[in-house]
This record gives sequence, structure tokens and C-alpha cells, in this order.
Amino acid sequence: MFESISPAMLARMQHLEAIDLRDRTDGTPHSRRLRQVPPEAGRFIALLAASSPSGSIVEIGTSAGYSTLWLALAARATNRRVTTYEVDPAKLSLARETFELSAVADLIDLVPGDALQHLAQQSNVAFCFLDAEKDLYQRAYDLVLPRMVPGGLLVADNAISHQHELRPMLDFAQADPRVDSVLVPIGTGDLVCRKK
Ligand SMILES: C[S@@+](CC[C@H](N)C(=O)[O-])C[C@H]1O[C@@H](n2cnc3c(N)ncnc32)[C@H](O)[C@@H]1O
Repeated sequence: MFESISPAMLARMQHLEAIDLRDRTDGTPHSRRLRQVPPEAGRFIALLAASSPSGSIVEIGTSAGYSTLWLALAARATNRRVTTYEVDPAKLSLARETFELSAVADLIDLVPGDALQHLAQQSNVAFCFLDAEKDLYQRAYDLVLPRMVPGGLLVADNAISHQHELRPMLDFAQADPRVDSVLVPIGTGDLVCRKK
């Protein structure tokens, strides 16, 4: 899977990594920052998505499409597509550019708008990457989990870096009898939930 990263995709990944790093240090306002996963977390979600059972791959929070590129590798390797949701028009524009330049636009359905308004239309979700504003995690979890296939994986990002804001949702998921879960200290921390 990782051997299929093309020179164009690698160049775009490195470009976005450089912008993300700069954003974190130059005072760029929070709303304009890309707030991407680090590369090792990108590889992690790609491996999990590629290992998930038959069904769709969904992402909540596209930003400029960096994590989506990793998920696109999994989608291509398993003959699937990625549906990714983004509400911010500027990020949507960057994401479109990312997918065109990386030649993966044919693998990705980029859905503009509030993901919470669209998630009820999903079914047979095999993998979901949840990486948007922290106050929507619980509602997104509640919407996605019933729409997941048995054995499907839901990954909630920032589970360590934002553990205080996410505490109620993390406690809920970790006690949820519908899933097995584990907190993985990679990147900013990923709570991985597997639907029983
Ligand atoms: C942490 S960033 C995502 C980073 C991206 N997953 C990556 O690693 O490259 C969170 C993104 O979620 C978007 N977002 C926030 N609320 C949303 C909502 N209700 N629906 C869809 N996207 C949302 C933000 O605009 C922002 O771009």
C-alpha cells in the first residue's frame, strides 16, 4: 500500500506537512490552521482502514486532505472509496487541490457542509476517522456507530491531546458494550473502537 505513494502525492504530503508545521509556530489563527495528523498517525489510520472489513471508509474533518490521502491509499489497496466531510470553504478548496494534484480525486467523495447533517445517510461503514471539533465527537459517534458493520473500526483522534474536552465521550466509548476499545499513544492519541 505505502509503495503506491506517487511522487506527486509525496510532494503534496510534504507541502502540507510544511504548512502545518509553520501554522503551529507563526501565530496563524486556530480556524485557519490545517491541524493535521502527523505522518505516523496517517500510516496508522491507513493500516487500520485497509484492515477493516468490507464496507465504506468515512472521515469527519478533511481539512486540506492530508489524512484523506492516507485513507485513499487504503481505499485503493482494497478497491473502495473514501467519503470525507468538511465544513470550511477554504479547507474544501485546499482539499480539492490536494486530491487533484495527488491524482486520487476518483477515489474520494468530498462532501461540503456539516458532517452531522449527512452522517444519517451513511450505511455499512467499515472504518470511520473522527477528527473535527471536539464538541461534535459524541454526536458523531452516536450517529456513526449504529451504521457500522460488525468488526468496523471507529478512530477518534486527539484522544490524549484533548482528553479533558473529550473526557465524557471517551468515557462513554470506553464503557460502551457495543465496542471493544483501546487508547493508542500515537500522534495526538487515537481511541480505536471495534464494533462487536
Ligand atoms: C483537525 S482538522 C482535520 C485534520 C485532517 N483530518 C487531517 O489530519 O489532515 C478538523 C477539521 O474539521 C472541520 N470541521 C469542523 N466541524 C465540522 C463539521 N461539523 N463537519 C465537517 N467538518 C467539520 C474543520 O473545518 C477542520 O478542517
